[in-house]
Amino acid sequence: MQHADAEREQALIEIIETNGRDPTRLLQVLWRAQDIYDWISPQVFAIVGREMSIPPARIEAVAEFYSFLYTQPRGQYRILFADNITDRMAGSIALFDHMAKRLKLKPGQISDDGQVSIDLTSCTGMCDQGPAILVNNRAITRMTPRRVDEICNLVKSAVPLADWPAEYFKVDNNIRRADMLLGSTWVPGDALRAAIGRGPQGMLAELKRANLRGRGGAGFTTGVKWEACRNAPGDKRYIVCNADEGEPGTFKDRVLLQSFAGRVFEGMTLAAYTVGASKGFVYLRAEYRYLLDALQAQLAQMRDQNLLGDEICGVPGFSFDIDIHLGAGAYVCGEESALIESLEGKPGRPRIRPPFPVTSGYDGKPTVVNNVETLCKTLEIAINGGAWYEGQGTKQSTGTKIISVAGDCERPGLYEYPFGVRVAQVLEDCGARNPIAVQVSGASGICLSEREFGRRIAFEDVPSAGAFMIFGKTRDMFEVARNFAHFFAHESCGFCTPCRVGTALVANLMDKIAAGRGTQYEMNEILRLHQVMRTSSHCGLGQTACNAIFDTVQKFRPSYERRLKAVDFEPAFDLDAALAKTRELTGRDDAAAHLGVEA
Ligand SMILES: Cc1cc2nc3c(=O)[nH]c(=O)nc-3n(C[C@H](O)[C@H](O)[C@H](O)COP(=O)(O)O)c2cc1C
Ligand code: SF4
Repeated sequence: MQHADAEREQALIEIIETNGRDPTRLLQVLWRAQDIYDWISPQVFAIVGREMSIPPARIEAVAEFYSFLYTQPRGQYRILFADNITDRMAGSIALFDHMAKRLKLKPGQISDDGQVSIDLTSCTGMCDQGPAILVNNRAITRMTPRRVDEICNLVKSAVPLADWPAEYFKVDNNIRRADMLLGSTWVPGDALRAAIGRGPQGMLAELKRANLRGRGGAGFTTGVKWEACRNAPGDKRYIVCNADEGEPGTFKDRVLLQSFAGRVFEGMTLAAYTVGASKGFVYLRAEYRYLLDALQAQLAQMRDQNLLGDEICGVPGFSFDIDIHLGAGAYVCGEESALIESLEGKPGRPRIRPPFPVTSGYDGKPTVVNNVETLCKTLEIAINGGAWYEGQGTKQSTGTKIISVAGDCERPGLYEYPFGVRVAQVLEDCGARNPIAVQVSGASGICLSEREFGRRIAFEDVPSAGAFMIFGKTRDMFEVARNFAHFFAHESCGFCTPCRVGTALVANLMDKIAAGRGTQYEMNEILRLHQVMRTSSHCGLGQTACNAIFDTVQKFRPSYERRLKAVDFEPAFDLDAALAKTRELTGRDDAAAHLGVEA
């Protein structure tokens, strides 16, 4: 036993050394420590603190913030069922109950022998092939009752995960419609050489001419962002690829990373050439950890091809390389300033902006943060020019958009269309089954009812970061909104009061209505909280957390009303007690975290 302990300690120290004892690598070190110890044990705290000279409080703050880091034992097999609404629609809750019964476990409970634990997690980005689970962070798709039984047997027989059937871990691309990006071929280095031929200023001019807008949600103009970074004072700049893709219903970046990774990296290098950066990071969500080895191999190949490293493509002084950082289960880390905090090895809480990352990002230096798809798009512009690109899509939304289609349809998967495609067209192409609603752009997006299916996917009409969840006529839109309310309550980082308190209250109010104890009072309360959160939350998470409820109340009112009691007001719960879960999640129990208590 002592021998094993010494070996584990030695392995951890080697990892710390490989990471240069660098505090910004703390999250990456804790991940690897967890691989070795199964959890972030007191021993891990002691070794990491000693070897990296980091105060225990800081290690604890990081370990507690991320939901995939465990500061308590969680079982050798940590099984998490994706709790996105599309997984639920595919029967995930019945499968969860079945497994819990077979393993004789409750949610979050660990078996007496310490062998296995089972719980729910947020969307895993496998919505086109759900229900999905994660076992020790490896995704298993297409769960069925039979597969649940097989997994229970494997767990009970203590078969190592590496020996489980390979087909369990198969993740399909499901590309159903390809256009400018998914349908084109990539010749490594062509786009980069074209950009070098144009020069940084020429490349900026083409990007602006193309009117390329970010595909991560906000739709900011990429050429303007890159130019601001290039012009910001300082001698060091960074390029960050946002591969956090945590928005429920979105999985396009997973496919791009799985089968188009060379283009993503070349897009980053092209950005580095244009803005004058020498270092890049990919921030990869933990659910996509299975891609890590292939991504590292792709990077190594590009170094061999002189597309990364020193004097790239023979250009004197042009050096650039890319590191991959793994997230650890926090949706808020998709927000660019939270992502940068996380890259620096801290809890991923959004920063106060301004300053924006283009002037003060990673390590306080000018930083470009772009979505995976945006970076791929820059290759097409470098090769074909801005005028060509501008000719596709609509005037305000140029080019194409990749849409992740899931839910009630025959052919879920990726569909790439020129911007301006009508919602009805997408529904027809994917074989939607009696659709009554589409949730575009994820839980924080917009819910369209049947009468809006003539609208277009475009920044000027229905903006979309990529998700397209379809709900057929048998679906209950109140339950859809309730699922999203719980998602936001779970994912709120707790930094600001409107969101920390508001998301928990809204989830509780939705539960009360679901239980048949709601009245018009609860409805009004939810809409009031929506206004408060929308206008006074610190980041986009809180600002958009009630969007789906607001939309469904307007467009699917009967699904709420038939649950309401006729009475005016029903005392629901002890409000302060209702916030206990959020206090626990955010690690706060001070006076300010309690209702009715002056801070
Ligand atoms: C709560 C929250 C989550 C986000 N998640 C993502 C994400 O997973 N991927 C992404 O590219 N952008 C995400 N964003 C948007 C980023 O903050 C940022 O605008 C984007 O990465 C910029 O890249 P783009 O200009 O290429 O779109 C998120 C924003 C918020 C507020
Ligand atoms: S809005 Fe929510 S997620 Fe954003 S900073 Fe505030 S508490 Fe955190």
